[in-house]
Amino acid sequence: MPPQTTALSFDDALRRLDAAPLIPGPPLVDTIRGLGANNAAYFRTSVEGGLELQQIPEELDRLANDLLTRFGDRPVRYLEIGVGSCATLIFLSRLWARHGITALLAAVDNLDYQRRGLVASQQMRIDWCIEHLGLEFADLDTRTPDFQRWLTGRQFDVILVDGDHTFAGCLWDTVTCAGALAPDGILVLHDVTSKACPGVGEVFAVAQSVAGAAHMFSAADTCGIGVLEGLADHPELIRAALSASLHRVDRLEHRAAELTELTASVRAVITRALPRALKERRARRASA
Ligand SMILES: C[S@@+](CC[C@H](N)C(=O)[O-])C[C@H]1O[C@@H](n2cnc3c(N)ncnc32)[C@H](O)[C@@H]1O
Repeated sequence: MPPQTTALSFDDALRRLDAAPLIPGPPLVDTIRGLGANNAAYFRTSVEGGLELQQIPEELDRLANDLLTRFGDRPVRYLEIGVGSCATLIFLSRLWARHGITALLAAVDNLDYQRRGLVASQQMRIDWCIEHLGLEFADLDTRTPDFQRWLTGRQFDVILVDGDHTFAGCLWDTVTCAGALAPDGILVLHDVTSKACPGVGEVFAVAQSVAGAAHMFSAADTCGIGVLEGLADHPELIRAALSASLHRVDRLEHRAAELTELTASVRAVITRALPRALKERRARRASA
C-alpha cells in the first residue's frame, strides 16, 4: 500500500518553517519533509501542498549545509531560473535569514508551468515573495534576448538553474548564467540525477568537466542537486558546450524537433562566445 499523505496549507507550512531551528542535519530533513511537496510520492515525503516543494528533503538539507558553509559571514546575491511555486526560494530565504545572512533574491520564470497546470498558484506565490521577501521577479523566457538584456551587468553569488529541463535548454541556461556569476560564485543545477530529464545530468557532466570543483547531492533518481564552482567567465565552458552539442547531434539525426531546439541553442551559445573570441583575436593581432 502507498504511504498515506496529508494535505497542508501554505500558512501552516510557513508556521512550521518559522518554528523550526533550521540547522542542517537529520532534524532539518524532518522539517523539510513536513513543509509539503508538489507531489509527495515523487519527492519522497508524506505531506502534499504547503510550500509545494519540488525537492528531495535529504538533498535540500545538504544544499542548505553547503550554502551556510560558504556564505556564513557575507551577503548572498541569489538568482533562481525557474521558480515553480517559489518553494525552494522561500525555504532558502528563511534559512539565510535565520542564520543572519542578508540575501538579495531575484528570479526569472516564463510562467510556463502555471499555463500547463503543473503548479497551482505560481503567480500568487511570486506576488507573495515580491511583497514579503523583496523578490525581484522577471517574467521572461531564458531563450530570449530580453533575458540576456536583463542579465547584462548583474552579478550573483548563487544561481540555481531549474527552468527548461531539456539538454539544449539547460545547456543554454548554464552557459548564459555562468557569465553572470561573481568570481567565486556557484552555479547549482537541479535534477542532475533525474531519470525524467537525463539532459540535465548530461549538462552537469559537461560543466563538471571544466568546473574548478563539483559536488553532487543525490538521494533519489527523481531529482539530484549538482553544485559547480569556478565557472564564472570560463571560456572552456563554451567550448565544452559546443563539443557536447555536436556529439549529441549524431544521436538526434531522426528526431527533428529536438535537433531544431539544439541547433538554436548552439547558435545562441556561439553568438554569446563570439564577442570574446573576436576580442582575443584582436588582442593577439595587436601584440603581434
Ligand atoms: C521544475 S520548476 C522549478 C521549481 C523550483 N525551482 C523549485 O525548486 O520549487 C521549472 C520552472 O521553470 C519554468 N521554465 C521552464 N522553461 C523556462 C524558460 N525557458 N524560461 C523561464 N522559465 C522557464 C517553469 O515555468 C517552471 O516554473
